[in-house]
Amino acid sequence: MRELTPDTITDAVLDQMATTPDARMREVMAAAVKHLHAFAREVNLSPAEWIKGIEFMTMVGKMCTPERQEFILLSDTLGLSALVNGLHDSTAIEEGTHTSLLGPFYRENTPTLPAGSQIAGKVKPGSECALYGRVTDVNGMPLANATVSIWQTGADGLYDIQESATAVDYRGVFATDADGVYALRTVKPIGYSIPMDGPVGGLVKAQGRHGMRPAHIHFLVGAPGYRELVTALYLRDDPHLADDVVFGSSGDLAVDIEADDPKCPVRGLPSIRFDMRLARESAADRSSGRVGSDPAAIVKAPARSGNGQSQAAAPAAS
Ligand code: BEZ
Ligand code: FE
Repeated sequence: MRELTPDTITDAVLDQMATTPDARMREVMAAAVKHLHAFAREVNLSPAEWIKGIEFMTMVGKMCTPERQEFILLSDTLGLSALVNGLHDSTAIEEGTHTSLLGPFYRENTPTLPAGSQIAGKVKPGSECALYGRVTDVNGMPLANATVSIWQTGADGLYDIQESATAVDYRGVFATDADGVYALRTVKPIGYSIPMDGPVGGLVKAQGRHGMRPAHIHFLVGAPGYRELVTALYLRDDPHLADDVVFGSSGDLAVDIEADDPKCPVRGLPSIRFDMRLARESAADRSSGRVGSDPAAIVKAPARSGNGQSQAAAPAAS
């Protein structure tokens, strides 16, 4: 029998996992083990640090509910979500508007509203603004009837579902018109802190980071035959545009609020214009998975069985 040492254990694990029938799973898990072992060797990970890491991941898991996805927050604050989005962008057959983070607050059950609707239930004086833009292909051809899903925080920097699991506010789905134009009323977005009351917030604080996201509005845009786009606009004058805690902001997604844009279809309000270009969809796009899935689907609310005991959550469909 071969003696296992810190130098030979990695190959022993890889040898044992070589029987994995699924080729992609074999590739991903082999790389994960190699990098995980290399990390432990590089920092000379102690048993106390190892158990601290296990405790941290356990707390992250316990924090997850249908309303809150702490693992996505962890991925976001470590830059992994932005990296995966960037890798996904680079597989597109055409260069459209760049992806930005979906974040943990996207929801499938968002109402479809007529053009020009106000998506905010409460509008403080002076905070209202119009939002519009054109959805086109990469050559500027308008895409009519594209679906534009929009969500943002209210004036308190919270999303509707952070205040109540069932609330629907500051979000809506719109269809583009024959010229590819969408238009609505909303409130000016403000910068806000990511949730800091859980283990991820604890980590961010321990690292001396501010935890802020620059003011932004999220978009998920779809049109038949085109690659679904998950992105966001960012206000150019936000002090955290360049140091977003989740690495989602970028200069090419930055916009200004115009006092009186004559092209805005909603008159009498300051306005934001945000145009988006969609790349054509390739066959590979159809099997690469959505960048934009509803995080609530990952942790389902426990179903009650007849004897009053809760049943284990079903795994999310892939
Ligand atoms: C958001 O923009 O909604 C968000 C993104 C990542 C982490 C937390 C919030
Ligand atoms: Fe957000």
